[in-house]
Amino acid sequence: MPTLLHIDSSALSEGSVSREVSAAYRAAWEAANPGATVIYRDLAAEPLPHLDAAGITAGFVPAEHRSPEQQEAHDLRDRLISELEQADAVVIGTPMYNFTIPSSLKAWLDQVILMGRSAGEQPSAAGTPVTVVSSRGGAYGPGTPRESFEFVTTYLEKVLTGMLALEVDFVVPEFTLARVNPAMAEFTDLADASKAQALVDAAARAQAVGAGVPA
Ligand SMILES: Cc1cc2nc3c(=O)[nH]c(=O)nc-3n(C[C@H](O)[C@H](O)[C@H](O)COP(=O)(O)O)c2cc1C
Repeated sequence: MPTLLHIDSSALSEGSVSREVSAAYRAAWEAANPGATVIYRDLAAEPLPHLDAAGITAGFVPAEHRSPEQQEAHDLRDRLISELEQADAVVIGTPMYNFTIPSSLKAWLDQVILMGRSAGEQPSAAGTPVTVVSSRGGAYGPGTPRESFEFVTTYLEKVLTGMLALEVDFVVPEFTLARVNPAMAEFTDLADASKAQALVDAAARAQAVGAGVPA
């Protein structure tokens, strides 16, 4: 039975654009795979602990010599990596916070990236398609004044392909603050168009992935 790993990281439970678009992906993917399994992680509602010394050192210690703290930390990493390994597709919703990803998503990445298993010579989830929904209040596309401040897609592209060997693509609703910030009122039409396009793109991507069409 196919499995989707669906991750959200917006701190907002209401009015989140990344949640709305990742949900559109999920709905289209489920329509293409009736009865399939979805593993859902809401990193804002249930934050993961930061990777700590116990989690880092546990991997270098034989199981029978691990402290209880190391074993607990290792079990969490094992569970999170297993979720990624089980997945036939992944969708990640991430807002831009201060030019980059939320710390909750960084915590997930630090837990999941484990040399010798999910990363390294033979990454265990290599080739899995992942769609990142990157919502942002302003605009950071090519040629915009803030292009060089963009560390969401640039970072995730590197870490998801370079470390985990996933097949990554991005859906990017922009100008989301136009509807809440009066100073950005002139961008409202662009914001609405960007979100509408993102919803279409996410559903199309999910249908293609769900039907097994190569990226
Ligand atoms: C703490 C915080 C920091 C933010 N930093 C930025 C930023 O650096 N650049 C930007 O364009 N928007 C920024 N925003 C706006 C969000 O990226 C925007 O509201 C986005 O839609 C959030 O995703 P969501 O709608 O899924 O919650 C920030 C919002 C918050 C709450």
